[in-house]
Amino acid sequence: MSELIIEGSRRLEGELTIQGAKNSILPILAACIICKDECIIHNCPRISDVDVTIKVLNYLGCKTVFEGNSLIVDSRNIFKNDIPDFLMREMRSSIIFLGALVSVMGKAKLCLPGGCELGPRPIDLHLDGLRQMGLIVNESHGALDCETVSGLRGCNIALSFPSVGATENLILAAILAKGTTVITNAAKEPEIVDLTNFLNKCGAKITCCGDSTIIIEGVSSLHGTEHTVIPDRIVTITYMAASAVTAGSLILNNVLEENISSAIPIFEEAGCIIKISKGNSLKIDSPARPYFNRLIRTMPYPGFPTDAQAPVMAMTTIADGTSMFVENIFSNRYKHVGELLRLGADIKVEDKVAIVDGVKRLSGAKVQAMDLRGGASLVVAGLSAEGRTVVGGLNHLDRGYECLEDNLKSVGASIRRV
Ligand code: EPZ
Repeated sequence: MSELIIEGSRRLEGELTIQGAKNSILPILAACIICKDECIIHNCPRISDVDVTIKVLNYLGCKTVFEGNSLIVDSRNIFKNDIPDFLMREMRSSIIFLGALVSVMGKAKLCLPGGCELGPRPIDLHLDGLRQMGLIVNESHGALDCETVSGLRGCNIALSFPSVGATENLILAAILAKGTTVITNAAKEPEIVDLTNFLNKCGAKITCCGDSTIIIEGVSSLHGTEHTVIPDRIVTITYMAASAVTAGSLILNNVLEENISSAIPIFEEAGCIIKISKGNSLKIDSPARPYFNRLIRTMPYPGFPTDAQAPVMAMTTIADGTSMFVENIFSNRYKHVGELLRLGADIKVEDKVAIVDGVKRLSGAKVQAMDLRGGASLVVAGLSAEGRTVVGGLNHLDRGYECLEDNLKSVGASIRRV
């Protein structure tokens, strides 16, 4: 298995361009199967979650052509309505195909996504809403066998929790449904807005009023379109944390400030100087040692994103001060703490609370990524640590970070994949 070898304590300085958002491209690619002709998606990140999604599209009968970071998807000849277990197990978020498959094929067969590194990944909110729309769902032996007898019909759905995946699945199921669907307490992450923008360009009729309520008026079909995926806000925050732990100075291009508004004050309070220029460029100049003494609660958007918890925690491990994290979204999202302790961090975890006492220096060690953002946290910590850090479990990192080591090397890090 490959590993990243990092010689830490090198100051990062230079310019990077932020990749397209993983959590945007995945639902948008699923949505492509509803379109009656070609879609061209620009700024598509070359990450393994996209590779798996392309495998699902090809399995269903779609043609895909990747040209640089532009992906052409032609779903005209889609002929399957099931996703085999081996593909579902490669990526849990394949559940996002459920709503799109039912929309276009009237039925869908796929296995339950099962638990993942972050804890159980229930889909009750997805299935409750789809059943309200008329989907017949048979769950047995860990598989879902779904079909509609007379097509899906619009209805009013109140989500008990603003689930990102459930919101996306219900939007994709409502696109061609008979009548209007109103989703209240919907998720309002930027990736949801990106998906609805894409769908409206394909002829859908979606309005987000007051952003927690989404109204979808069913249409008869969707045509293709050309779309550029928004930048990845979590990757942006990860590189900001890398700057903050190396007293670095980075210019990040292709940044949407409004999408990271809950994180910017955290870096400013840590002593970083952040300037946003009109061309969507963010400059971050970091102090010799970040100062950090506050509580961070992860919340649905626009609160602090759960996906940024691990990378930002890496920054607090070497900060001057004590910080407290409350992970409100996932039940098991502190897997990176055990590995950060190997690097000399001082962290105590009690249920969903983690207390981090900043230490002056971390020291390099061999660590193992257990999930995507936890892996990013270990890379950030390794960049700061004295000596050599070896990060294993790169399959997790490769799911969401495009050319991570090349990007970091280009701004002064000593990092290589072996
Ligand atoms: C999406 O996951 C993202 N994944 C996650 O990013 C992100 O952490 C999460 O949203 C929250 O922002 C993709 O977009 C592919 P949820 P999703 O449904 O849709 C519970 C990353 O690192 N829940 O909003 O699975 C669930 O257990 C990944 O890029 C139910 O109880 O998130 C969790 O505790 C990790 N029943 C909470 O809601 C349901 O039916 C949030 O889940 C659905 C969810």
